[in-house]
Amino acid sequence: MIKIAVPAETDKAETRVAATPETVKRFIGLGAEVTVEAGAGALSRILDADYADAGAKLVDTAAAAVADADIVLKVRRPESTELAPLKAGALVIAAMDPFGHEDAVKAMAAAGITAIAMEFMPRITRAQVMDVLSSQANLAGYQAVIDAAEVFDRALPMMMTAAGTVPAARVFVMGAGVAGLQAVATARRLGAAVSATDVRPAAKEQVESLGAKFIAVEDEEFKQAETAGGYAKEMSDEYKKKQAELVADHIAKQDIVITTALIPGRPAPKLISAAMVESMKPGSVIIDLAVERGGNCELARAGEIVVHNEVSIVGHLNVPGRIAATASQLYAKNLFAFVETLIDKEKQELAVDWEDELVTATVLTRDGAVVHPAFAGQGE
Ligand code: NAI
Repeated sequence: MIKIAVPAETDKAETRVAATPETVKRFIGLGAEVTVEAGAGALSRILDADYADAGAKLVDTAAAAVADADIVLKVRRPESTELAPLKAGALVIAAMDPFGHEDAVKAMAAAGITAIAMEFMPRITRAQVMDVLSSQANLAGYQAVIDAAEVFDRALPMMMTAAGTVPAARVFVMGAGVAGLQAVATARRLGAAVSATDVRPAAKEQVESLGAKFIAVEDEEFKQAETAGGYAKEMSDEYKKKQAELVADHIAKQDIVITTALIPGRPAPKLISAAMVESMKPGSVIIDLAVERGGNCELARAGEIVVHNEVSIVGHLNVPGRIAATASQLYAKNLFAFVETLIDKEKQELAVDWEDELVTATVLTRDGAVVHPAFAGQGE
């Protein structure tokens, strides 16, 4: 019998949960026994009774939940205090956020657990259903527009009324990946006049197909900017200068700017200078979704709304967690889809194929050592 545990998240900023009654039911259908810490779903609007109805066993503490679990499902990496009660060899599956937290990775190795980083899931067709980066970025892109609309003190759509016509708000999205494209689509649905930029040529058609205007420096470097993995490269200083000149004029005319630009393994590119903020009209809003990685706007502060020259620069942390009930639903499904591949359905036992690329790409620690190529050698 495979034992799966779902402890409550310990980070105060975390509102999501790693399993829902729906995924609990499906795990049980695979022959597993699921134990949930009481209150784990509370901030995602899931009651203990809902988990119990789905067949989960409810316990009062995280330690009791994980005590003899083979698989522990989490949103965030376990903190050091959470490691002691875990069984050696337990698979702990979460968004591990390992870069810059090498000591925490070592601590997981020392605890003897197999730590699996969901955000390292390869972006191949088979793993799309397990792609936590996409499921959460998509919701962050949506929520960014909702947050912008809340802070903005004008309407987004054009309003034609008996009292007169007000123009549509202008929304500019910087970085048109998963989050950015959802922001474009959401702002369009709210009736804004939307434009977007990216350094990857593939983004142009995607932005235009959503009915928004694409703005970018389309030189030779732009044509080469996408890596084989589909991500952006760090651009040259010369490109950044041309890009800044192009967007400076554009930003001055915008009401809302939503920034989502990221480069894997590097700090977020700085795209909006203080001077650009100062060029914007009073009441304008910048939502910086890259704030946890250093921010795309020079003036953004993590976890704060900075008001500079009457422009609000919003740097909310954990934006998917601001729409927790939906984010948990999708995150939990991503986890279920992956865990399903680790189970032998006939024998109803754990059967991890350690050679499978989904596993080799995501396993950080195993048998007391740090094994992931990005961190290997650090566990000894
Ligand atoms: P991301 O979160 O790493 O970055 C967000 C966006 O910022 C990207 O579009 C990137 O090109 C852009 N960016 C980086 N530097 C910039 C700069 N200096 N100026 C303007 N924009 C900049 O990327 P995300 O959202 O994870 O998507 C990356 C790619 O992966 C996309 O092509 C997406 O369609 C693709 N993808 C593929 C999946 C699959 O399973 N095949 C699943 C999800 C995404």
